Amino acid sequence: MRPSHVLPGHRLRRYGPAGTMLRVCVRPLGRLGTFKVCFQGYVGPRHYSSSSFSGSDDSRDARAYFTTPIFYVNAAPHIGHLYSALLADALCRHRRLRVPSATATRLSTGTDEHGLKIQQAAATAGLAPIELCDRVSSQFQQLFQEAGVSSTDFIRTTEARHRLAVQHFWEVLKARGLLYKGLYEGWYCASDECFLPEAKVTRQPGPSGESCPVSLESGHPVSWTKEENYIFRLSQFQEPLRQWLRGNPQTITPEPFYHAVLQWLEEELPDLSVSRRSSHLHWGIPVPGDDSQTIYVWLDALVNYLTVIGYPNDEFKSWWPATSHIIGKDILKFHAIYWPALLLGAGLSPPHRICVHSHWTVCGQKMSKSLGNVVDPRTCLEHYTVDGFRYFLLRQGVPNWDCDYYDEKVVKLLDSELADALGGLLNRCTANRINPSGTYPAFCTTCFPSEPGLMGPSVRARAEDYALVRAVATLPKQVADHFDNFQIYKALEAVSSCVRQTNGFVQRHAPWKLNWENPADAPWLGTVLHVALECLRVFGTLLQPVTPNLADKLLSRLGVSATERSLGKLRFLPRFYGHPCPFEGRRLGPETGLLFPRLDQSRGWLVKAHRT
Ligand code: MSP
Repeated sequence: MRPSHVLPGHRLRRYGPAGTMLRVCVRPLGRLGTFKVCFQGYVGPRHYSSSSFSGSDDSRDARAYFTTPIFYVNAAPHIGHLYSALLADALCRHRRLRVPSATATRLSTGTDEHGLKIQQAAATAGLAPIELCDRVSSQFQQLFQEAGVSSTDFIRTTEARHRLAVQHFWEVLKARGLLYKGLYEGWYCASDECFLPEAKVTRQPGPSGESCPVSLESGHPVSWTKEENYIFRLSQFQEPLRQWLRGNPQTITPEPFYHAVLQWLEEELPDLSVSRRSSHLHWGIPVPGDDSQTIYVWLDALVNYLTVIGYPNDEFKSWWPATSHIIGKDILKFHAIYWPALLLGAGLSPPHRICVHSHWTVCGQKMSKSLGNVVDPRTCLEHYTVDGFRYFLLRQGVPNWDCDYYDEKVVKLLDSELADALGGLLNRCTANRINPSGTYPAFCTTCFPSEPGLMGPSVRARAEDYALVRAVATLPKQVADHFDNFQIYKALEAVSSCVRQTNGFVQRHAPWKLNWENPADAPWLGTVLHVALECLRVFGTLLQPVTPNLADKLLSRLGVSATERSLGKLRFLPRFYGHPCPFEGRRLGPETGLLFPRLDQSRGWLVKAHRT
């Protein structure tokens, strides 16, 4: 059996220099058609270089548009969804620290509300589809608000502005000769909302032992579909997509996902069915001029990225294609093949960047309703605090491979890194006992000269102390590089390692053994505290994208004002480098409570009574 959406008889011929303009001669199903496809902005592979969004685009006006996937509303949000959104949020917040202009960075999220999956879920729940959409969409909105996702836009695909954008996009594809009507026959997986070739389908015993066809990848049931649909000439974009990706290896990150896409592009790329019979799928956007067909939910969903920025009005051009799509690995093909092909077809550039993450499992198993192991993110935010849970997901989530969730892991990580290491460090340097004046003490250049290895009775700094200064001085750049490479967990690992080093510094010099009253001790005591507070100021600044409330508490305690928290203003230990330090002598903030209280393992969850 061969699915007939694999349409034979297409030929692609290209004229002119690669990447400028393509004239394509196509012979679909025996008919001869010739048309021009102008790849707007496609002026050669280098055009899509990632350099413009990887840190070197920090000019005041440069715009950056981050997106999360839009979430299906067939079920309540889980921690995997929150993880997708937090990755995007952290990238976006880090960018805002570099380019503080409020209009330079945009973050969109939203809900994907059309399609067979939603239509069926609503029917099962005995609700009208829009009732289900309203209910679950507001759950996502509420979750993201509680979790501090700093989105600038929330889109619902059932909105009128989106219908307009999708129908316009469709008309453009049609006018460019990229849609035709053909017979689609093959497997459709409603859960994954995708068409599958025979090779991707297997059989599994159903509830009463009968053999049921399921998707090889997801295990979800598939059904045989045979109908006349509109079909997009995807096959014509195989070579342009290869060129785009080969010329821009940074486009898809991490690297293994880039190679996976290139590999897919080595296989046959059949044309894509982009509509369904309305009698079968009524919950969607009708094909313009043909009410008997509903637009395929993935075409509908992907266009959300354009709707948000005002498409089809010209305003969208000031944001497109400076886009970073943050997505899970299961939807890579839709974003790295279908979407760029649709965009090229519509005369638009592909997105600048696609950042891919892997999945969360729970105690070694895939999260699923039937296994009853779905972790509710709102409960986690409540138990571990917003900042605690954000820190956990972003510190432990490694985009390259799946990560396993269990409660003990959260408790262990937060107790050791936030409560003990970071909170303990702050407490050690600000406690009344050690810092009775409650100020940012002065730095003594004689005790800690900028040149290592100097000898003298008043020189107190040792080789390890210079290593600490070097490590913290280079930390902001390291963190920025990790953010640029979509390795946020590495940025947090680097911060955590510097926190440990700073604790080592304090431990080594045991300021609690020094005496403010003793003129031989006082300058060095002040210097030890000054260096430790400077390190804390760097940590607080760099943690803002991940733990915004905790970072605020830390920076406020250090007396750092709101205008002194951007990366541009972050000058570590200026006195060491011969510059004045604006913080020296400044009063510390009044809030003296614990930065992050330890979680009580014996009672399982956070003991709220300890909170200040
Ligand atoms: N609606 C589509 C996306 C359309 S974007 C134009 C969709 N929705 S989804 O709700 O199923 O998934 C949304 C995101 O959540 C995807 O990035 C997906 O990878 C992510 N996750 C779903 N389960 C996950 C885990 N268990 N772990 C981490 N992320 C997971 O796909």
